[in-house]
Amino acid sequence: MSVKVLITKSYDELSKKAAEIVASTIRNKPNLVLGLATGGTPMGCYRELIRMHREEGLDFSEVVTFNLDEYIGLSPDHPQSYRYFMDENLFRHVNIRMENTHVPDGMSKDPRKTCEEYEDAIRKVGRIDLQLLGIGSNGHIAFNEPSSPFDSRTRVVSLSERTIKDNARFFKSIDEVPRQALSMGMGTTTEARKIILLASGAGKAEAVAKSVEGKITTDVPASVLQKHPDCTFILDEEAASKLSGKVTKF
Ligand code: PGA
Repeated sequence: MSVKVLITKSYDELSKKAAEIVASTIRNKPNLVLGLATGGTPMGCYRELIRMHREEGLDFSEVVTFNLDEYIGLSPDHPQSYRYFMDENLFRHVNIRMENTHVPDGMSKDPRKTCEEYEDAIRKVGRIDLQLLGIGSNGHIAFNEPSSPFDSRTRVVSLSERTIKDNARFFKSIDEVPRQALSMGMGTTTEARKIILLASGAGKAEAVAKSVEGKITTDVPASVLQKHPDCTFILDEEAASKLSGKVTKF
């Protein structure tokens, strides 16, 4: 098995392609269970989904969402919390029901219980139908940093130094970046029926090449996706620039 690779000309095209896949999957299954990612990469896809909702009537009224992760210690009204990100960049612009949106609670007094409840909530709706992913420059997916076990479930994780540096651009200073997060596990994430991973820019090229063409190893978490039956990487040319060219493109 291998991942499929779609190389687009630009970030804009990548975003539109991803949004088209999400939209057509929602049209086929209005009560889709959709796994969502935060970060700079999916923002264009969310903008396009909002446009499709406004101009083409894309209907989110029955869609159920689960986000990958949340920083520990940031409340939902903190501008860098992932709950805030999702509300601002997607949810409040479409007709999704807020009670159908799930983001782990980073303020929980009992994080372990919160993680178990998150897994239970996913189990209750069956399975994630379509999971959107980004990739870290170190190959992480969600906040599953290198050496995360492939069978891990939603849990408390520590951010790697590299991730803290990468994410510092969203905060006033690096000291403000939370050191811990609640993250869906590798096992949770890879159980999705279909996975789309988005990567843009030269900074992701090495992680992408290792994940698509390298050895399957916990050192590069996204390499586990090679074992998934239906996973597509949607890349721009920069993010694809270190692939050898032998990959299955479409
Ligand atoms: P980014 O983050 O989209 O902000 O680059 C991706 C990730 O860390 O998974």
